[in-house]
Amino acid sequence: MTRLLHISDLHFGAVNDRLPEALLALARALKPDAVIVSGDLTQRARPGQFRAAAAFLDRFGLPLLTVPGNHDIPLYNLPVRILSPLGRYRALVSDDTEPVLTLPGAVLAGVNTANPMVWKAGRLRAASARRLKMGFAAAAPGLLRIAVMHHAPVPAADGGPPDIADPAGVLGALVAARTDIVLSGHTHMPHFAAAETAAGILFLQVGTAISTRLKTRWNDVSLVTAGGDRVTVQPYLTRGANRFEPGPVQQFRRRDGSWELADDPGDLAAQ
Ligand SMILES: [Fe+2]
Repeated sequence: MTRLLHISDLHFGAVNDRLPEALLALARALKPDAVIVSGDLTQRARPGQFRAAAAFLDRFGLPLLTVPGNHDIPLYNLPVRILSPLGRYRALVSDDTEPVLTLPGAVLAGVNTANPMVWKAGRLRAASARRLKMGFAAAAPGLLRIAVMHHAPVPAADGGPPDIADPAGVLGALVAARTDIVLSGHTHMPHFAAAETAAGILFLQVGTAISTRLKTRWNDVSLVTAGGDRVTVQPYLTRGANRFEPGPVQQFRRRDGSWELADDPGDLAAQ
């Protein structure tokens, strides 16, 4: 089983100062195989914000996969936004905006959906779709294929529409790449209560890990434990306190190529 700590939307520059240490403490307790960051490391893509984000992520001391979000592109500095939208991200966080991380049991591929032209909504470039397909095709058979992207082509937890251009086309590209699971952020709403399944792909979304930009009452992250046709999502919520506490677990299983929610955990254990 692969154990991933999925965090997102850190928004350095708008961080709740009491939460970074709490999140590090959670990671020390959980000892995941890797930390997965699905975008929006900063609030305004300023160099100091990227430096703070990079220093924080370094402190996990774990394998790391990050992708940029729309907030990692400058909003107001138009020359930088157009000419070098992710220059600061590349210089201060990672020069690879679409990294691949291979772990025992899974291969993870980052997809850069940040779009400097529209800024907030995402897009999947044809080159990114090709790279994803090639990356997954090159991986050993039997590994779970997990795509990590800031914007996902599925509705938000509140039913809001997907905030990415041509969601049907993006879904088709994910299917063509034989994606099993998508980890995403952007909405600042955890999706463990209503994760969609579509076209054989399990979509898992977390809210904002440590920022003050809440759209729910709590900050949240998830521990995703995945292996074969089974996925367990264990959310951790701040619940207003300065620590992350476990929330309700959801378990998914894949039957005949489609993921479904296992309502009764005993049902899974019995098989
Ligand atoms: Fe965000």
